[in-house]
Amino acid sequence: GAPQDLAGRSVVVSAGGTREPLDPVRFLGNRSSGKQGYAVARVAAARGAVVRLVSANADLPAPDGVQVTPVETALELQQAMTEAAAGADVVVMAAAVADFRPAVYQDAKIKKSHEPGAEQAPVVELVRNPDILAGLVRDRGEGDRPVIVGFAAETGDATGDVLSLARAKLARKGCDLLVANEVGRSLAFGQDENTVHLLRPDREEARTVGPADKEVVAAALWDEVVNLLATPPTP
Ligand code: PMT
Repeated sequence: GAPQDLAGRSVVVSAGGTREPLDPVRFLGNRSSGKQGYAVARVAAARGAVVRLVSANADLPAPDGVQVTPVETALELQQAMTEAAAGADVVVMAAAVADFRPAVYQDAKIKKSHEPGAEQAPVVELVRNPDILAGLVRDRGEGDRPVIVGFAAETGDATGDVLSLARAKLARKGCDLLVANEVGRSLAFGQDENTVHLLRPDREEARTVGPADKEVVAAALWDEVVNLLATPPTP
């Protein structure tokens, strides 16, 4: 059986991808299936933790012994995470959160115009969603609990490779562990396997895991968290 090194710990995990509705039938979404976050929740439960899983639009069965809270939007996810994080030992943000949502929700289905010459497409105005992870770090204040784990979905671009973008994100978000995965249309999202770099502010080198099953990635994440929970707080 799995080591019971999370016995008695209370952990909260987010998984899946938020949907930001435009009208009753349309939304802005992303390619997250929830597989990685569900694996994180499943492995924590197997290692003895009391697990709460906040699930955004994932079409997956609830892991054994895990309490699942379904949400749709980033704002709903923020509320569920903020409530659940109070008193938790560990929070893991594996969900893919929309950074923007439509500024207005249309109560009726948006229609195309049939006027002759009215070829114009509608313009959708977006507004910023809150950064949930940064908010959890802020709410923690000077304390050291919960331990906060973020993910970073990077494609690499002109401004940097996956690892250097992830390092900058770790510094910006202020979490204790950042799990950086390279993503793309056929990378990470929806797949059974993942390759990640585990980054900590107190460690120079990244630890790379994979390509490996998402359960293996989840186990490596929890190994780091067990180590962080055992590390005495810096005075
Ligand atoms: O679900 P799967 O198909 O298995 O795919 C897994 C995954 C690729 C979705 C997952 O491993 C992953 O990378 N999840 C995080 C995706 C993401 O939103 O990354 P980001 O780099 O945009 O955000 C960085 C961190 O901030 C994440 O922990 C994210 O949850 C959090 N965030 C982002 C935006 C926002 N408004 N609020 C947040 O809290």
